[in-house]
Amino acid sequence: MVKSKRILLIVSGGIAAYKSLELIRRLRERGFSVRVVMTKAAQEFVSPLSFAALSGQKVYTELFALTDEAEMGHIELSRDADLVVAVPATANIMGKLASGIADDLASTLLLATDTKILMAPAMNLRMWLNPATQRNLETLLRDGVIFVGPNDGDMACGEFGPGRMAEPLEIAAAIENCLKQPTKIPAPGAAASPSSGSKPLAGRHVLLTSGPTHEPIDPVRYIANRSSGRQGHAIAAAARDAGARVTLVSGPVPIAAPHGVNLVSVETAQQMYDAVHAHLPADIFIGAAAVADWKVSAPSKGKIKKTGDGPPALSLSENPDILASIGKLKKGRPLYVAGFAAETGELEKNGRAKLVKKACDLIVANDVNPETGVMGGDFNTVRLITKAGIEDWPILPKEEVANQLIARIAKLVSELKR
Ligand code: C5P
Repeated sequence: MVKSKRILLIVSGGIAAYKSLELIRRLRERGFSVRVVMTKAAQEFVSPLSFAALSGQKVYTELFALTDEAEMGHIELSRDADLVVAVPATANIMGKLASGIADDLASTLLLATDTKILMAPAMNLRMWLNPATQRNLETLLRDGVIFVGPNDGDMACGEFGPGRMAEPLEIAAAIENCLKQPTKIPAPGAAASPSSGSKPLAGRHVLLTSGPTHEPIDPVRYIANRSSGRQGHAIAAAARDAGARVTLVSGPVPIAAPHGVNLVSVETAQQMYDAVHAHLPADIFIGAAAVADWKVSAPSKGKIKKTGDGPPALSLSENPDILASIGKLKKGRPLYVAGFAAETGELEKNGRAKLVKKACDLIVANDVNPETGVMGGDFNTVRLITKAGIEDWPILPKEEVANQLIARIAKLVSELKR
């Protein structure tokens, strides 16, 4: 189904340009057709002839080549693709797209396209880490551009660090993955929601948890975690857009609930457990909350005072596992149960274990090491773990993770026998 899709490959100028030749082979092996556009700088590294030979198509280089305009105008060139990929993507081409500059064929096509854009950056590590590049990266992620890499590694310039382009096989896999989702972006004015054409979850009840829980120590202190609720709330909004009736059971968060969802505010894990069970039945349950695993066994009724005898000992007891309690329901189990696994190591192993232990259909695993900025941040890099296997998604804004996750779950639920 994903076969014979058309890829517009934009090659910008960097030593990694030679790896795009390998990428074309990998893409053609997978049945994709590839049309190549090169920047002027790219032609300094690899000749257009090599790209023409491997792609089997004319290579485009000039914005104002009249013969090209007669054959195919630049707008058509950019629209005649199922996906536009910039490999390698230099700091320059990222900067141009982030600022809306169109001063050559490559940058014009990136601005004119109506498909998603995937970029595989390649540059010196200082250029990658430069605040200007990082600002542009953030802008592009917000605008929906999908990134693969860069990876840490030895660089052509003799340094080591982030900036090395992802390998062709990794990029080919990311492209295949992208093409499993709709890639055409609706025209301005057309409804933009992924589910706007149809409401794949119409008539369904989606019950989900979001945010942290607060476990009281005394009336003024509590144990909590850094969850912002952004991912869970974005999923609630995506489910609403897909036509579902949504019940959002949320711990204390600094953000507003999306309009049109039924918000049930709770504080502790026990309250979250009770609220979730009170709002069954549901067709789909998604446990996106960062539920505290432990609570203080006997919170103090009054504020605990300093006595001079050292800090008080807190005795902890385990909270109920909400997700497992839903996954293991004998009667009235939702058709689809999904959970999250926020991990700081062994993502795959821990995610797989949770899939089984909590009787889920899907675990969305993510790396919450502080350097990823996921906890409380705008972006998420997730790994989907099901019985069928594992799927890595590129770094995406949390809203986009939510849209794609809901689209995926809606499809899976529609395939189940009622
Ligand atoms: O075991 P761990 O906390 O890593 O599992 C994470 C998943 O389990 C999340 O989906 C979270 O919402 C859910 N969970 C839960 N109740 C708990 C602990 C975790 O529902 N007490």
